[in-house]
Amino acid sequence: MASLSRSDIIKILKSSDPDIFNELLNTADRTRQEYCGDKVYLRGLIEFSSYCECNCLYCGLRKNNQGLKRYHLSNEEIIALAMQAFKLGYQSICLQSGETKKAENLDFLVKITEKIKDLSQKADSTGLGLGITLCIGELNYQEYKRLWDAGAHRYLLRIESSDPVLFRKIHPPSQSYEKRLECLHALKDIGFQLGTGVMIGLPGQTAENLCSDLEFFQHENIDMLGMGPYIPHHAAPLSRSKDKQNIDPYTAALKMIALSRLLMPDINIVNSTALQSINPEGLNMGLRAGANIVMPVLTPKDIRSDYYLYEKKKHQSPISLIREIQNAGFTPGLWEWGDPIHYFKKNKLSS
Ligand code: 5AD
Ligand code: SF4
Repeated sequence: MASLSRSDIIKILKSSDPDIFNELLNTADRTRQEYCGDKVYLRGLIEFSSYCECNCLYCGLRKNNQGLKRYHLSNEEIIALAMQAFKLGYQSICLQSGETKKAENLDFLVKITEKIKDLSQKADSTGLGLGITLCIGELNYQEYKRLWDAGAHRYLLRIESSDPVLFRKIHPPSQSYEKRLECLHALKDIGFQLGTGVMIGLPGQTAENLCSDLEFFQHENIDMLGMGPYIPHHAAPLSRSKDKQNIDPYTAALKMIALSRLLMPDINIVNSTALQSINPEGLNMGLRAGANIVMPVLTPKDIRSDYYLYEKKKHQSPISLIREIQNAGFTPGLWEWGDPIHYFKKNKLSS
């Protein structure tokens, strides 16, 4: 199955045959079991700032969306949330925000990363402390390096679509495909465990595009993958696109997770909030399809709905999320970093 050709993949993506769908998910499930076991690792997600200087055409956080209440958590609030994740045994957090080029914001994040690292290492009998993933967009090499030196070791930066034409259609001219690629290469060069991903079901996107996305992930030798269905947001111009949505985002997202697991069996794959938001079975099915990472949202309840990327974003409590993981027959990987095996293999390191 791992030697799937381009035409096999496109056929699977286009198929509406339930037998093909079930066989795909079952094979991916077995592959995940063989390479990663039944553990599902947790990344406590702290959406620490909803300010963004970009204007991505699909996103509710875009700068031009004046209808959104913006927030920025304080130093103390972020550190308290991180330590809450540590006490719950998550062992890893993901700090996410809109994109900013302001130097003071980078200084702020460098200091926070150092502090969280220090506090969690002191509180941990193994001395390891929290693993820190960042998801804060495009920066330059030196800025990424400062964050790495401060103690972050994973970075998620979605390519959104690996097709330069589609990328251009969903971003303003100020955001370029080449710059995004340059960022991904800088992150890899510095040593970050590298994560990327795409949205699935974008207007005008085809099965061929999705197949190219899978080829892109393999070519970039990524360690982590976070993909999710595209869900329109009323204040984002892409929701009014005249291009046809050729792909059912839910089933295609599940197929993309399963195909990724078959093609890249030892990477970490996130079960995205967007997948859980468009279908009540999203978590269960995403795990069955081969995802092994879940990101419980730790952003305070009173502001959580202001991190409004897309309509009907699901807000599930971490406790019920963990219960659902267990009910689906998986083991929450508490007190472990759960790094992607692929990172160690490709760098010939021991995990
Ligand atoms: N639908 C689905 N995902 C979205 N994102 C932003 N807007 C949407 C949307 N409308 C995702 C992007 C981005 C991440 C922070 O959120 O892929 O990388
Ligand atoms: Fe900003 Fe990210 Fe949304 Fe683009 S996708 S507008 S960079 S938060």
